Amino acid sequence: MTKVQNSRLEAVVSAEAFHWGAEVGERYHGVAAEHMDAQWQQMLKPFFDRYPFDLTEVVDFAAGYGRNTRKLLETGARHVTMVDVNQDCIAHLRENLQQENVTAVQNNGFDLSPLPDGRYTFLYSFDAMVHFDLEIAIAYLPEFQRILKSESYALIHHSNYSANPGGDFTTNPHMRNYMTAGIFKHVAMRNGFDVVEQWIFSWGEPDNDCITVLRKR
Ligand SMILES: C[S@@+](CC[C@H](N)C(=O)[O-])C[C@H]1O[C@@H](n2cnc3c(N)ncnc32)[C@H](O)[C@@H]1O
Repeated sequence: MTKVQNSRLEAVVSAEAFHWGAEVGERYHGVAAEHMDAQWQQMLKPFFDRYPFDLTEVVDFAAGYGRNTRKLLETGARHVTMVDVNQDCIAHLRENLQQENVTAVQNNGFDLSPLPDGRYTFLYSFDAMVHFDLEIAIAYLPEFQRILKSESYALIHHSNYSANPGGDFTTNPHMRNYMTAGIFKHVAMRNGFDVVEQWIFSWGEPDNDCITVLRKR
């Protein structure tokens, strides 16, 4: 990546990524955790029932305060690496999920350089990439490909909202950033993934969200 590309991504991260730290601890993460069981049952478990996800070495990407990691462990994950850009989230995870089968890793908001190539058997991200800028999603997809083992799956919840190109995502309904199912599919395919399924669904607004299941070729 060139210096210009790097500083461009750094600028997007510093403008957009830091809305979910300790300042919204209980108000956001505490309330979200209360909805986790219902969201898992309705939106996520059906994918785990349908696909043979290998939960040996899982990444919970943009893990926040760890509500998804808890469900992944309950579902049988042997080890979960929780990645997040925000130091407050990492500190919370290290303090509250002290067990041998989890690791918390802080990253720079646009790559997964602390994680090795080809190690992980499943990459999971829920309720986070819906807020990511298109440029950040494009930067992460080759990284997801790099860290996954061949034939491993990824389940990624992202935005399908494209009404405000170039606008401020915090003013969009439910803070959905600019992305569509089609663009996500295109970028994933160009980065060595088969797109196994895309489920477009409504989160407060009609069809503003999508869960995409990828498989590394
Ligand atoms: C809405 S919270 C959701 C957290 C968690 N997935 C959940 O369901 O509770 C979004 C998370 O994404 C993280 N995040 C935002 N931008 C990021 C980026 N560019 N790279 C990595 N993490 C990011 C935030 O720090 C935050 O923890």
